[in-house]
Amino acid sequence: MKPFLKQMARMVVPSAARAWWADRRLTALSRDEDFQKAGRDFVRWMIEVADLQPHHRVLEPGCGLGRNALPLIEYLRDGGSYDGFDILQGEIEWATRNISAAHPHFRFQHAHIYNKYYNILDGCPSTEYRFPYEAESFDFVFLGSVFTHMLRADVEHYLDEIARVLKPGGRCFITYYLLNDERRSNGTAARFPQPTAASCTIRSDRNGKSPTMKPKCAPLTRRAA
Ligand SMILES: C[S@@+](CC[C@H](N)C(=O)[O-])C[C@H]1O[C@@H](n2cnc3c(N)ncnc32)[C@H](O)[C@@H]1O
Repeated sequence: MKPFLKQMARMVVPSAARAWWADRRLTALSRDEDFQKAGRDFVRWMIEVADLQPHHRVLEPGCGLGRNALPLIEYLRDGGSYDGFDILQGEIEWATRNISAAHPHFRFQHAHIYNKYYNILDGCPSTEYRFPYEAESFDFVFLGSVFTHMLRADVEHYLDEIARVLKPGGRCFITYYLLNDERRSNGTAARFPQPTAASCTIRSDRNGKSPTMKPKCAPLTRRAA
Protein backbone atom coordinates (compact mmCIF):
# COMPACT_ATOMS: atom_id res chain seq x y z
CA MET A 1 0.00 0.00 0.00
CA LYS A 2 1.23 3.54 -0.78
CA PRO A 3 2.59 5.39 2.28
CA PHE A 4 -0.07 8.08 2.10
CA LEU A 5 -2.92 5.53 1.91
CA LYS A 6 -1.34 3.57 4.73
CA GLN A 7 -1.23 6.69 6.87
CA MET A 8 -4.86 7.53 6.00
CA ALA A 9 -5.94 3.96 6.88
CA ARG A 10 -4.15 4.41 10.19
CA MET A 11 -6.25 7.52 10.84
CA VAL A 12 -9.69 6.15 9.88
CA VAL A 13 -9.58 2.47 10.93
CA PRO A 14 -10.29 2.20 14.68
CA SER A 15 -7.16 1.40 16.67
CA ALA A 16 -8.75 -1.76 18.18
CA ALA A 17 -9.37 -3.16 14.69
CA ARG A 18 -5.81 -2.28 13.62
CA ALA A 19 -4.40 -3.93 16.74
CA TRP A 20 -6.49 -7.08 16.12
CA TRP A 21 -5.33 -7.32 12.52
CA ALA A 22 -1.68 -6.60 13.38
CA ASP A 23 -1.76 -9.22 16.11
CA ARG A 24 -3.01 -11.93 13.73
CA ARG A 25 -0.50 -10.99 11.04
CA LEU A 26 2.50 -10.79 13.36
CA THR A 27 1.61 -13.95 15.30
CA ALA A 28 1.43 -15.87 12.00
CA LEU A 29 4.78 -14.40 10.94
CA SER A 30 6.42 -15.31 14.26
CA ARG A 31 5.42 -18.96 13.68
CA ASP A 32 6.81 -19.13 10.17
CA GLU A 33 9.67 -21.64 9.91
CA ASP A 34 11.90 -19.49 7.66
CA PHE A 35 11.40 -16.51 9.96
CA GLN A 36 12.40 -18.56 13.00
CA LYS A 37 15.40 -20.09 11.22
CA ALA A 38 16.67 -16.65 10.19
CA GLY A 39 16.50 -15.55 13.84
CA ARG A 40 18.40 -18.64 14.97
CA ASP A 41 21.05 -18.03 12.25
CA PHE A 42 21.54 -14.43 13.38
CA VAL A 43 21.94 -15.49 17.01
CA ARG A 44 24.43 -18.22 16.03
CA TRP A 45 26.47 -15.61 14.15
CA MET A 46 26.33 -13.24 17.10
CA ILE A 47 27.86 -15.99 19.24
CA GLU A 48 30.32 -17.49 16.72
CA VAL A 49 31.48 -14.36 14.92
CA ALA A 50 31.13 -11.65 17.56
CA ASP A 51 31.48 -13.62 20.80
CA LEU A 52 28.15 -12.73 22.38
CA GLN A 53 28.10 -13.97 25.97
CA PRO A 54 25.05 -15.08 28.01
CA HIS A 55 25.58 -12.33 30.62
CA HIS A 56 25.73 -9.52 28.04
CA ARG A 57 23.35 -6.58 27.97
CA VAL A 58 22.18 -6.50 24.36
CA LEU A 59 20.67 -3.65 22.34
CA GLU A 60 19.01 -4.17 18.97
CA PRO A 61 18.07 -1.00 17.06
CA GLY A 62 15.54 -1.90 14.34
CA CYS A 63 14.42 -5.02 16.21
CA GLY A 64 11.11 -5.47 14.37
CA LEU A 65 8.81 -7.83 16.24
CA GLY A 66 11.70 -9.65 17.91
CA ARG A 67 12.83 -12.26 15.38
CA ASN A 68 16.26 -12.27 17.03
CA ALA A 69 14.98 -11.62 20.54
CA LEU A 70 12.98 -14.86 20.49
CA PRO A 71 15.99 -17.23 20.17
CA LEU A 72 17.97 -15.03 22.60
CA ILE A 73 15.49 -15.82 25.39
CA GLU A 74 17.17 -19.20 25.93
CA TYR A 75 20.71 -17.81 25.63
CA LEU A 76 20.77 -14.63 27.75
CA ARG A 77 20.95 -15.38 31.48
CA ASP A 78 23.04 -14.54 34.57
CA GLY A 79 22.18 -10.83 34.34
CA GLY A 80 22.01 -10.79 30.55
CA SER A 81 19.22 -8.66 29.09
CA TYR A 82 17.80 -7.42 25.81
CA ASP A 83 16.51 -4.02 24.71
CA GLY A 84 15.13 -3.34 21.24
CA PHE A 85 13.58 -0.37 19.52
CA ASP A 86 11.95 0.12 16.15
CA ILE A 87 9.95 2.68 14.21
CA LEU A 88 7.12 0.16 13.70
CA GLN A 89 4.67 0.65 16.54
CA GLY A 90 2.57 -2.48 15.85
CA GLU A 91 5.66 -4.71 15.96
CA ILE A 92 6.83 -3.16 19.22
CA GLU A 93 3.39 -3.58 20.80
CA TRP A 94 3.28 -7.22 19.66
CA ALA A 95 6.74 -7.92 21.10
CA THR A 96 5.84 -6.25 24.39
CA ARG A 97 2.67 -8.35 24.71
CA ASN A 98 4.20 -11.62 23.53
CA ILE A 99 7.80 -11.46 24.77
CA SER A 100 8.25 -8.89 27.56
CA ALA A 101 5.13 -10.04 29.42
CA ALA A 102 6.75 -13.43 30.13
CA HIS A 103 10.39 -12.23 30.07
CA PRO A 104 10.64 -8.80 31.71
CA HIS A 105 14.39 -8.54 31.03
CA PHE A 106 13.41 -8.31 27.33
CA ARG A 107 12.17 -4.76 26.68
CA PHE A 108 10.90 -3.04 23.53
CA GLN A 109 10.41 0.66 22.75
CA HIS A 110 8.76 2.46 19.90
CA ALA A 111 11.04 5.05 18.23
CA HIS A 112 8.99 7.95 16.97
CA ILE A 113 11.00 8.60 13.79
CA TYR A 114 9.90 10.02 10.46
CA ASN A 115 10.00 7.46 7.65
CA LYS A 116 8.75 8.02 4.13
CA TYR A 117 7.18 4.53 4.03
CA TYR A 118 5.89 4.01 7.57
CA ASN A 119 5.41 7.38 9.20
CA ILE A 120 5.03 10.35 6.89
CA LEU A 121 3.11 12.70 9.18
CA ASP A 122 5.41 13.29 12.11
CA GLY A 123 8.39 11.98 14.06
CA CYS A 124 11.96 13.28 14.16
CA PRO A 125 14.52 12.49 11.45
CA SER A 126 16.83 9.52 12.16
CA THR A 127 19.77 11.94 12.18
CA GLU A 128 18.37 13.57 15.34
CA TYR A 129 17.16 10.49 17.15
CA ARG A 130 18.87 9.99 20.49
CA PHE A 131 18.73 6.34 21.58
CA PRO A 132 16.65 6.28 24.79
CA TYR A 133 19.41 4.75 26.95
CA GLU A 134 22.16 5.96 29.24
CA ALA A 135 25.75 6.14 28.00
CA GLU A 136 27.80 2.94 28.37
CA SER A 137 24.86 0.71 29.19
CA PHE A 138 25.32 -2.18 26.73
CA ASP A 139 27.95 -4.87 26.09
CA PHE A 140 26.65 -5.78 22.67
CA VAL A 141 24.74 -3.96 19.93
CA PHE A 142 23.27 -5.89 17.02
CA LEU A 143 21.78 -4.54 13.78
CA GLY A 144 20.41 -7.06 11.30
CA SER A 145 19.47 -5.64 7.88
CA VAL A 146 18.81 -2.18 9.32
CA PHE A 147 21.47 0.03 7.74
CA THR A 148 20.28 -1.38 4.40
CA HIS A 149 17.23 0.86 4.91
CA MET A 150 19.06 4.01 5.94
CA LEU A 151 20.99 6.79 4.24
CA ARG A 152 24.58 7.69 4.97
CA ALA A 153 23.90 10.58 7.37
CA ASP A 154 21.45 8.41 9.35
CA VAL A 155 23.98 5.60 9.56
CA GLU A 156 26.73 7.97 10.74
CA HIS A 157 24.47 9.34 13.46
CA TYR A 158 23.45 5.82 14.55
CA LEU A 159 27.14 4.83 14.78
CA ASP A 160 27.72 7.81 17.09
CA GLU A 161 24.78 6.72 19.22
CA ILE A 162 26.01 3.11 19.26
CA ALA A 163 29.42 4.32 20.43
CA ARG A 164 27.72 6.37 23.16
CA VAL A 165 25.61 3.53 24.58
CA LEU A 166 28.29 0.81 24.32
CA LYS A 167 30.42 0.11 27.37
CA PRO A 168 34.17 0.53 26.79
CA GLY A 169 35.32 -2.60 24.93
CA GLY A 170 31.74 -3.40 23.94
CA ARG A 171 30.98 -4.96 20.61
CA CYS A 172 28.76 -4.12 17.71
CA PHE A 173 27.72 -6.67 15.14
CA ILE A 174 26.13 -5.32 11.97
CA THR A 175 24.95 -7.05 8.82
CA TYR A 176 24.96 -5.31 5.45
CA TYR A 177 23.74 -6.23 2.03
CA LEU A 178 26.87 -7.08 0.05
CA LEU A 179 26.90 -6.19 -3.62
CA ASN A 180 30.34 -7.09 -5.00
CA ASP A 181 31.58 -7.94 -8.50
CA GLU A 182 31.30 -11.68 -7.99
CA ARG A 183 27.70 -11.52 -6.87
CA ARG A 184 26.82 -9.03 -9.59
CA SER A 185 28.34 -11.17 -12.34
CA ASN A 186 26.76 -14.50 -11.39
CA GLY A 187 23.36 -12.96 -10.67
CA THR A 188 23.12 -14.28 -7.12
CA ALA A 189 23.00 -10.76 -5.71
CA ALA A 190 19.52 -10.29 -7.03
CA ARG A 191 18.22 -13.79 -6.37
CA PHE A 192 19.80 -14.81 -3.07
CA PRO A 193 20.73 -11.85 -0.95
CA GLN A 194 23.28 -13.17 1.49
CA PRO A 195 24.06 -11.14 4.56
CA THR A 196 27.59 -10.03 5.23
CA ALA A 197 28.78 -9.40 8.73
CA ALA A 198 30.89 -6.51 9.85
CA SER A 199 31.95 -7.20 13.38
CA CYS A 200 33.39 -4.00 14.77
CA THR A 201 34.85 -2.85 17.98
CA ILE A 202 33.65 0.72 18.23
CA ARG A 203 35.59 3.20 20.30
CA SER A 204 34.32 6.65 20.92
CA ASP A 205 36.76 9.40 21.77
CA ARG A 206 33.90 11.08 23.70
CA ASN A 207 34.93 14.47 22.28
CA GLY A 208 32.15 14.73 19.79
CA LYS A 209 34.14 13.16 16.96
CA SER A 210 32.90 10.14 15.06
CA PRO A 211 33.62 6.77 16.61
CA THR A 212 36.56 4.83 15.27
CA MET A 213 35.84 1.35 14.07
CA LYS A 214 37.97 -1.64 13.24
CA PRO A 215 35.67 -3.62 11.01
CA LYS A 216 36.27 -7.27 10.32
CA CYS A 217 34.01 -8.26 7.43
CA ALA A 218 33.13 -11.78 6.51
CA PRO A 219 30.40 -13.28 4.38
CA LEU A 220 27.98 -15.34 6.43
CA THR A 221 26.75 -18.63 5.08
CA ARG A 222 23.37 -20.05 5.84
CA ARG A 223 23.53 -23.56 7.25
CA ALA A 224 20.76 -26.17 7.47
CA ALA A 225 18.95 -25.95 10.83
C1 LIG B 1 14.66 -5.89 7.44
S1 LIG B 1 13.94 -5.38 8.97
C2 LIG B 1 14.95 -6.29 10.12
C3 LIG B 1 14.30 -6.44 11.47
C4 LIG B 1 15.15 -7.17 12.51
N1 LIG B 1 16.45 -6.52 12.67
C5 LIG B 1 15.32 -8.62 12.14
O1 LIG B 1 16.45 -9.05 11.87
O2 LIG B 1 14.30 -9.33 12.13
C6 LIG B 1 14.54 -3.70 9.16
C7 LIG B 1 13.96 -3.05 10.41
O3 LIG B 1 14.61 -1.80 10.59
C8 LIG B 1 13.62 -0.88 11.05
N2 LIG B 1 14.12 0.48 10.83
C9 LIG B 1 14.23 1.14 9.66
N3 LIG B 1 14.73 2.38 9.87
C10 LIG B 1 14.94 2.49 11.21
C11 LIG B 1 15.44 3.52 12.04
N4 LIG B 1 15.83 4.68 11.56
N5 LIG B 1 15.55 3.26 13.38
C12 LIG B 1 15.16 2.08 13.88
N6 LIG B 1 14.66 1.07 13.14
C13 LIG B 1 14.56 1.28 11.83
C14 LIG B 1 12.39 -1.27 10.27
O4 LIG B 1 11.23 -0.77 10.85
C15 LIG B 1 12.47 -2.78 10.30
O5 LIG B 1 11.82 -3.33 11.42
